[in-house]
Amino acid sequence: MTDDIKRYWNAHIHDLQMTQHPIGTRAFFDDLDAYRFDKLRYLPHLVDFDGFCGQSVLEVGCGIGTDLVRFARGGARGTGVDLSETAIDLAQRNVELHGVGDRVTLRVEDGEALPFDANEFDCVYAHGVIQYAADPVRLVAECYRVLKPGGQGLFMVYNRVSWLNALSKVMRVDLEHADAPVLRKYSIPEFRALLGQAGFRDGRIIPERFPVQSRLHGGWKGALYNTCFVGTFNALPRPLVRRFGWHLMALCRK
Ligand SMILES: C[S@@+](CC[C@H](N)C(=O)[O-])C[C@H]1O[C@@H](n2cnc3c(N)ncnc32)[C@H](O)[C@@H]1O
Repeated sequence: MTDDIKRYWNAHIHDLQMTQHPIGTRAFFDDLDAYRFDKLRYLPHLVDFDGFCGQSVLEVGCGIGTDLVRFARGGARGTGVDLSETAIDLAQRNVELHGVGDRVTLRVEDGEALPFDANEFDCVYAHGVIQYAADPVRLVAECYRVLKPGGQGLFMVYNRVSWLNALSKVMRVDLEHADAPVLRKYSIPEFRALLGQAGFRDGRIIPERFPVQSRLHGGWKGALYNTCFVGTFNALPRPLVRRFGWHLMALCRK
């Protein structure tokens, strides 16, 4: 299974369709950063990228390194691992182009068997990774093991009971990476249990990621979504609909 997952992510760069620039150029990385932080407006509010200055941050499943660049720019010593060689090569290029190559170490590794000592990192971050892993229990247990006591775990998985999951079923539009070898969704209690089982405590799980205009989907479905759905959903009182956010962000401690 892990080989299939590696093969898939070697062939698929997350959000690649959001840029016209050649892969690996500064403009390519800047486009994907701009797209990500427009779509994930919540992220800099929940993750203090500048708050780990002088501390060690491990990102598991770092992809092309977009968030790792932010941690490193904030002064953190970053380590990024990913199963995919393509992702790690691009992440290396990304950190060098952003002038933070000296603060970041990147390695092709399996997050389910991390090659680090116990209690090594101040923060472990995995955004959009657990749900694509062969064995999420092992991956979360490894994140816990390498985190220092008192250290912060920051994780994001997809919410099964969410507007996007429901909409994709009603409109018969596949979710992104629906063709990946593994794609899981969690309810809030299931995600809480997964983290608790590894030992994480003080966990706050915050549903986020509400509808924003899509450049991904065209045709009448895309038009209906952009002209009606986004505005209507966002007009609903957020406290009422928060639990249906597509992303479940967990902020917890070892
Ligand atoms: C949807 S991408 C997310 C990338 C990045 N975290 C982001 O938010 O843009 C999922 C990533 O998880 C990685 N991944 C999946 N299983 C993994 C594992 N067991 N160990 C390390 N990385 C893994 C994939 O290679 C892929 O780069």
